[in-house]
Amino acid sequence: MNLYGSEKIRRMTSSIFQEVVDRKQEAMLKGKDVIDLSIGSPDFPPPPFVVDTLVEYSKDPGKYGYTLKGISEFNEAVKYFYQQRYAVDLDDKREVLQLMGSQDGLAHLATAIIDPGDYVLVPDPGYPIYEASVTIAGGNIYPMPLLEENKFLPQLQEIPVEVLQKTKMMILSYPGNPVTALADRQFFEGVVEFAKVHNILVVHDFAYSELIYDGNPRISFLSVPGAKEVGVEFNSLSKTFNMAGCRIGYVAGNSQVIDILASFKSHIDYGIFYPIQKAAIAALTSDFSFLEGQLKQYQSRRDALVSGFRNSGWEVANSPATMFVWAKIPAGWSSREFAFKLIDEEGIAVVPGDAFGKQGEGYVRIAMVQPPERLTEAAQRVNQFLMEFSVGI
Ligand SMILES: Cc1ncc(COP(=O)(O)O)c(C=O)c1O
Repeated sequence: MNLYGSEKIRRMTSSIFQEVVDRKQEAMLKGKDVIDLSIGSPDFPPPPFVVDTLVEYSKDPGKYGYTLKGISEFNEAVKYFYQQRYAVDLDDKREVLQLMGSQDGLAHLATAIIDPGDYVLVPDPGYPIYEASVTIAGGNIYPMPLLEENKFLPQLQEIPVEVLQKTKMMILSYPGNPVTALADRQFFEGVVEFAKVHNILVVHDFAYSELIYDGNPRISFLSVPGAKEVGVEFNSLSKTFNMAGCRIGYVAGNSQVIDILASFKSHIDYGIFYPIQKAAIAALTSDFSFLEGQLKQYQSRRDALVSGFRNSGWEVANSPATMFVWAKIPAGWSSREFAFKLIDEEGIAVVPGDAFGKQGEGYVRIAMVQPPERLTEAAQRVNQFLMEFSVGI
């Protein structure tokens, strides 16, 4: 049989992530002690009460059926969480939809909303599913460059009118992946205004809403007046409660969008395992002391990594949020050369920035998914690397 993937699939496939995995394996085969800072899967465990809830309900053989859109208690728990953490009021019946992780919703929304020929504004660099979802839907992508000189915010006024006339949706994420910058309330207010004028649906990915450091405020897009008229926000328990493998997340906001996505999903999946929903409810309605403790731990990882790099003369920017550092690489290297040489020589795995879009060239994404001692060691090895290859820093 001579079979190959569809044209869409062939357009989507990014080989860079696979190349990082291959290089990592090669380094391990050569006996290198690899410090893996490439993947964004939390190494911290979920809170024990969440695991207990999951175990308890899993023992009930009556809880193994399809759950469809999920139990209403989950929507109520999201309402509670959004009220407590972001001062946002949600109608749990109309403005919340359970998802199999936010990826599920992000991957499917474009197909539910976009027709061939429609444009979607996506951040460049951006989390890969944004672009992939539009490709699956047959839409056109208009990349919005996120540049350091603009504090990594898109310059909406620079988008050509001809593009805006055909634009149906825009995707934003603050703080995001790989760009960890924060947006202020004023920026979001401008986005709401812009979306109203141009009749554009705003999709805000808030997956890292609980990993915001240095006392900076956690600003939900939905907390801005008028946001629900034009947009939705995706969120998840993957990073907030370390439940990445227990696939559960949600989208909140504009009820029309929620209805459209729910209707599309009813053709695709039959809901999330009941015990996972109960575990998520326990997490979302907890006293949140877990979140405060976790934030401190990530912040000390961030400090260990950033100060370690700076000691070696590599002036990486301090990451204000998320589990990543978006680091500008020393001059004279491409992102791939730098990342691959770092794995080959020092066993440090990071992701080349161009894996996330053209504007990611010149950067690498470093995930803080190791304890501070390992991060300090990683920084020491990078120091060694920079000296050995006498890179201009
Ligand atoms: C920015 C961002 N959005 C969404 C996701 C998807 O997360 P999940 O599907 O586990 O909720 C990720 C995962 O890494 C992410 O980094």
